[in-house]
Amino acid sequence: MSASVPIVRTVADLRAQVGEWHAAGQTVGLIPTMGALHAGHLSLVAAALSHYDRAIATLFVNPKQFNDPADYANYPRTEESDAAKLAEADAHLLYCPYPAEMYPDGFSTNVTVSGVSAGLCGGARAGHFDGVATVCSKLFLQSGADGAFFGEKDYQQLKVVQRFAADLDIPITIHPCATVRDPDGLALSSRNQHLSPEQRAIAPALYRAMTAAAADIAGGRDRDQALEAAKTAILAAGYNRIDYLEARRETDLNIEFSSGEPARIFAAAFLGETRLIDNTPIG
Ligand code: PAF
Repeated sequence: MSASVPIVRTVADLRAQVGEWHAAGQTVGLIPTMGALHAGHLSLVAAALSHYDRAIATLFVNPKQFNDPADYANYPRTEESDAAKLAEADAHLLYCPYPAEMYPDGFSTNVTVSGVSAGLCGGARAGHFDGVATVCSKLFLQSGADGAFFGEKDYQQLKVVQRFAADLDIPITIHPCATVRDPDGLALSSRNQHLSPEQRAIAPALYRAMTAAAADIAGGRDRDQALEAAKTAILAAGYNRIDYLEARRETDLNIEFSSGEPARIFAAAFLGETRLIDNTPIG
């Protein structure tokens, strides 16, 4: 366990450190985050350390991916405790850029990915994936890391990142990592801290209903019927609104797919003010 994790805040310092490691023949894995770290993020650090010599976590609350200014203002900022968790997880560096380092005056470039960013969270949160793709492409190019680690909980985000990294020929390997869940099935998320004890008790109903629908569809039940039954179960459990609950093909997130193709169920639903998302494979 390290005593503390070194922090850099400028592209020049980040590149100097990565340059030293590369010159010594060491490989580098990147874990992009917006902080408020939980065990899911720390599992990405562990995955990075198992593939690469060095692990860099990034912490930047990216204004470009929030469509609601209040949501951006209220996003938890917990740099000190995040740094302590990263030290404990043996990360080698924390990159916390200043907003002006990331988006200096005059910044006018936007990375837009079509296809996989349509619908699901891309439909509900206008401009969100442009913001994610723009900041992640900058993080990849600023760091020159060899690999980057993304959780499958944000599956659409993962597809967006894989798409632009391939399309823009960025020399980085994208590593998808399994969703980390509490024992009752709830996917770990920084948003879970907003749930009251009553809401926390209801929350696993989302994943329960999704896995039941996935098993039903894999067993031959009509897709629409299985998804309708899942929606009914989620609302009956106490969720107040479902943003979307859909089955999509894994490769390109197309809504049209045949039963032999790898597919997933995707959902976003509100428990009070808190919007939770999850996904699970069919079959
Ligand atoms: O998943 C997140 O925390 C963010 O979307 C990411 C990938 C760090 C980009 O800001």
